[in-house]
Amino acid sequence: MSAFKTLDDLGDVTGKVALVRVDLNLPMQDAVVTDDTRIRAAAPTVLELSERGAKVLLLAHFGRPKGERVSTQSLSMVVGAVEKVLGKEVMFVPEIAGDVVKQAVGILRAGDIAILENTRFWKGEEKNDPELVKAIAANADFYVNDAFSAAHRAHATTEGLAHVLPAYAGRSMQAELEALDKALGTPEKPVAAVVGGAKVSSKLDVLKHLVTQVDHLIIGGGMANTFLAAKGVDVGKSLCEHDLTGTANEILETADQSGCTVHLPYEVVVSKEFAANPPSLRTCNVHEVAADEMILDVGPLAVEALSDVLKTCRTLVWNGPLGAFETVPFDAATVALAKTAAALTREGSLVSVAGGGDTVAALNHAGVAGDFSYISTAGGAFLEWMEGKELPGVAALSA
Ligand code: 3PG
Repeated sequence: MSAFKTLDDLGDVTGKVALVRVDLNLPMQDAVVTDDTRIRAAAPTVLELSERGAKVLLLAHFGRPKGERVSTQSLSMVVGAVEKVLGKEVMFVPEIAGDVVKQAVGILRAGDIAILENTRFWKGEEKNDPELVKAIAANADFYVNDAFSAAHRAHATTEGLAHVLPAYAGRSMQAELEALDKALGTPEKPVAAVVGGAKVSSKLDVLKHLVTQVDHLIIGGGMANTFLAAKGVDVGKSLCEHDLTGTANEILETADQSGCTVHLPYEVVVSKEFAANPPSLRTCNVHEVAADEMILDVGPLAVEALSDVLKTCRTLVWNGPLGAFETVPFDAATVALAKTAAALTREGSLVSVAGGGDTVAALNHAGVAGDFSYISTAGGAFLEWMEGKELPGVAALSA
């Protein structure tokens, strides 16, 4: 992992102005925040800087307003939720640069916190426009990036600012990078990866990279069907990208050359219809799927075999559910394997890191999210990291 500065490298910040990039791209319904996980992730950094006497200006995007002011995407809507998590009053500033921000800085006392407007209301944000970067930086003394989940974007507030102000990783960014390094950077071997989800096409680059990095790749979810089809298995009505069987075979070949064992389900849970507890539900060998059936989960014996694989490993990276986990009983394999991973982590024999899209929801559903070594709140950024890509927001901190 390249070196980056953290809040430990900051001297006295009393009265200094900190621009802190956080991720406030929060799930909302009717203008109310429905999940404050990302606010809680940013809280340690924000509170630490405030307690150390900095004037804290929070920068974040919300949605994709494409350079226009869209009132329904104003960050003024999240102020209440942020105040609740921080337990402190937070000022809202309807700009990100210029005199309005300057005046706000003048009003703020040491330790006060403000949220600036949605950075994506300005076209220069996504273009990483140097003029905008300069204008934002003009009101501050230093920059802290605590938004790993937005670090795959080379935008003005995720990347550009790190080049014009002294730049530091926030506590959540630091924890994320340290955990990710333990998982794929310099992991204890053997390493296993679980990759699930509906489509191979959405995770092609992840799979291609992982087979060169890990000892065991466990493939689940709809994407396993494409691999099974590539191996000549008749997957019936299952979700399957038949046009990608060639690619699936290439990935299997690379795995072979790299000494990575790919685990596909040999026993599956099938049904004629996709519904909760359907009457046609049955468990069978993967070679016995009927033409009118679809594979919806990994079977219990196959999960046991996968659990045995995890028992031999020291590190686990998990992305995506093994079955259609939102519908019972197709959550069973995900829940069972997640429980094994959690138990091994508690025993101290496994470092387990999970993240991306549905994964957090699946592990919460299994009731084990708290037992994993690290759970990332990032979606796209976690996937790009799993693809082995350098994230611009992270690279800029190490420059
Ligand atoms: C996210 O929600 O994953 C991040 O905030 C990035 O958002 P984006 O995909 O709109 O850039």
